[in-house]
Amino acid sequence: MLRTRLTERLKIAYPIIQAGMAGGVTTPELVAAVSNAGGLGTLGAGYMSAEQIRFAVETIRRHTDRPFAVNLFIPESYQENVEDIQAMNRTLDTFRNELGIPNSPEIAKAAEPFHEQLDAVIELKVPVFSFTFGIPDSAVMRRLKQAGIYTIGTATTVKEALALEDAGVDAVVAQGSEAGGHRGTFADKAETALIGTLALVPQVADAISIPVIAAGGTMDGRGLAACLMLGADGVQMGTAFIASPESGAHPAYKKALEAATEEQTAITAMYSGKAARGLMTTFMKRMSSYPGNVPPYPIQNALTRDIRQAAAKANRPEYMSLWAGQGLRLVKPVPAAVVVEETVRKAVEAIRNRIPNADPS
Ligand SMILES: Cc1cc2nc3c(=O)[nH]c(=O)nc-3n(C[C@H](O)[C@H](O)[C@H](O)COP(=O)(O)O)c2cc1C
Repeated sequence: MLRTRLTERLKIAYPIIQAGMAGGVTTPELVAAVSNAGGLGTLGAGYMSAEQIRFAVETIRRHTDRPFAVNLFIPESYQENVEDIQAMNRTLDTFRNELGIPNSPEIAKAAEPFHEQLDAVIELKVPVFSFTFGIPDSAVMRRLKQAGIYTIGTATTVKEALALEDAGVDAVVAQGSEAGGHRGTFADKAETALIGTLALVPQVADAISIPVIAAGGTMDGRGLAACLMLGADGVQMGTAFIASPESGAHPAYKKALEAATEEQTAITAMYSGKAARGLMTTFMKRMSSYPGNVPPYPIQNALTRDIRQAAAKANRPEYMSLWAGQGLRLVKPVPAAVVVEETVRKAVEAIRNRIPNADPS
């Protein structure tokens, strides 16, 4: 039941991918729990070193013999402007003072080197490699293919989906504007590429011939059924797994998520330099009137890291990044396997029962 091209090819029971969520949510335990339940768990490894990836993958493999994915960020070139960084640091220092941490700290490196992360992924022969923020170059795509790794790219427009298909990826995540976390947009401005899942998925499905995975707002079986009707071969769910006990999200983050409602998210570039959807926080509100240039990703991400970490330690969610999609009222603090099983059960029920006597006449 619910077999699609994706489930057949990946040898998974259900067309449900748990999104890679960098920053600690996707523990090896969460990834393995989803894969053991018949979905595809994903390690969000965007902020991990190669060594951390190796350790996490070994742990996943100890907990499951089913397929799983590792997700990385495709690096983009960026300009480093010292004045912009200094000006941003002056404003960020007001948060640092409140948290009692040193002002304007030195940043050793803005991001983990992609080529080292990728080497680990290839060497470990992970079954599935998913990515966002761009397209790997042709040499990287060749290496992934040679290693027999299934690749999944992220698109927020039809143009991006076509570019991914042209580059030889095996499947495309169509990320609607409801989605929590970073926008995967790489070919357009993030502000213009805010297409809702309902509008994006069928347009992507019409444009490309490889499998389409709908992301953004799928929280239960109704969402899965709807996405399959739109032409998707599967769904990628992020927010729905954050409050699960296996998730590594901070307790205050889980609590905030469970209490939040659909109008309480916003898209901001203030945490990382790149547009991302999360619960509206005091940090976002105060930074929304920032008058200067926000340094690009990954610089801004590195500049706010100490603040986010100190806030987590001090249990101050108002200064943490609380990435979340718009399906907030449907978040449940249940084990990941229950999210998968219930989503499948309710999708089958919805498909069978919603309009049992549908008839064109
Ligand atoms: C906390 C969080 C972190 C995320 N981190 C990543 C990431 O590292 N890589 C990625 O490809 N997508 C990431 N995403 C986006 C998801 O892949 C997916 O598009 C999104 O969760 C789907 O929308 P939903 O949250 O409404 O289910 C993240 C989403 C969330 C909520």
